[in-house]
Amino acid sequence: MAVTGEIPADLNGVYLRNTENPLVPARERYHPFDGDGMIHAISFRDGNVEYRNRFVRTEGLLAEVNAGEAQWSGLAESPLKALRQDGWGARTRMKDASSTDIVVHNGVALSSFYQCGELYQMNPITLEDEGCATWNGKFPEHGVSAHTKVDETTGELLFFNYHTEYPYMHYGVLSPTGELSHYTPVPLPGPRLPHDMAFTTNYSILNDCPLFWNEELIAKGIYATNFHRDMPTRLGVIPRYGNENDIKWFECDATYVLHWINAYEDGDEIVLDGYFQFDPSPSLPPDATMDQRLFRFLDLYALQSKPYRWRLNLRTGQVKEGPLSDTITEFGMINGRVGGQNYQWVYSTIPAEGWFGFEGIIKHNVNTGSEESYRLPTGTYASETVFAPKPVQRSEDDGYLVTFTMDVVNDASHCMVFDALNVSDGPVATIQLPERISSGTHAFWADASTLREQN
Ligand SMILES: [Fe+2]
Repeated sequence: MAVTGEIPADLNGVYLRNTENPLVPARERYHPFDGDGMIHAISFRDGNVEYRNRFVRTEGLLAEVNAGEAQWSGLAESPLKALRQDGWGARTRMKDASSTDIVVHNGVALSSFYQCGELYQMNPITLEDEGCATWNGKFPEHGVSAHTKVDETTGELLFFNYHTEYPYMHYGVLSPTGELSHYTPVPLPGPRLPHDMAFTTNYSILNDCPLFWNEELIAKGIYATNFHRDMPTRLGVIPRYGNENDIKWFECDATYVLHWINAYEDGDEIVLDGYFQFDPSPSLPPDATMDQRLFRFLDLYALQSKPYRWRLNLRTGQVKEGPLSDTITEFGMINGRVGGQNYQWVYSTIPAEGWFGFEGIIKHNVNTGSEESYRLPTGTYASETVFAPKPVQRSEDDGYLVTFTMDVVNDASHCMVFDALNVSDGPVATIQLPERISSGTHAFWADASTLREQN
């Protein structure tokens, strides 16, 4: 592969990226989140790289390939249009495309789906298929949502799921060696659409945002989301091994949070950072096109997504909250070593206006508010950009940023590596990929020390 610049010799590990790639056409209308999961992996070792990509071999994908046409309806289609009565996800009658997220836990890559489903296991370097996680027969009936969280300090995996029947949500912990060590119901007032969770050393933070499906319409097979500006956002703090009676709920300003950044404990307070949407339900012109309707919840400028901090006092129940920046950003990654702990730096993407693409990357100091960014050439988009720490760090931000790009002008893709201490200087290494890859959502950095193949 052609390389411009020099691949750092102390960058060792694998960058994994989940993307959406529709293999069979949609029944009526494709939504960008319907595509089949394809994992892209670029592994670094002593200045050398290897790249691979592979479809996640989901049960749904194999069924549709065998049938030669789509069997389930996508996000922008009525579930009643599905050919099959079965399916996955909180909405049901959907295909679990396993196309949303990817993490590495216990040396195994796990892909997941935002509507809840299986965890598809694969080798993080070769992408060899290792089947669905079973957790020795204890894998949850309602599946697992995207945004499982790896606590790099303890090696545990924290997760949640959601569904349309009481108790509407569950939360659990997987041990460092992959056994289910905790699973508890999280009763909610009704079906909700949580997308992400956060954690500190001792607590997990779940959410009940006032943007959710209408329960009466669900009974008629209609899954319409409504934002309730007059309802609070409820944030639930649960001890890592707590049960439903231990959850403390905090009422905060109404919003929808797609992604959290990090959280930590500060005395009696839980400090929680995430992206606050100042307009979670943007209005549309009466003559809006189908594309405008489709991208209404994908345009982060329209949603006005900004970094934001909540302080939740466990002793008094009080909440302090407010923005950390006026810059519109999302998809933040941190140094995984400070996950759940006091930290300084988040590496976010700069969204493209009116489109689900990322024009650049931005490094933001959550304590001082300082920002440093790098913008890609027009027509080139970044992926969620991970932080890869150096083996011996002099500071939290001593490491590299790694991303894949999609250059739609020249029909090419590259992997770019930045010095995280000097983001605005541009990439220190650019590696051409064999083909242009599709856009996607989430990515993960697994350090060589966590990979059996590189140890
Ligand atoms: Fe997400």
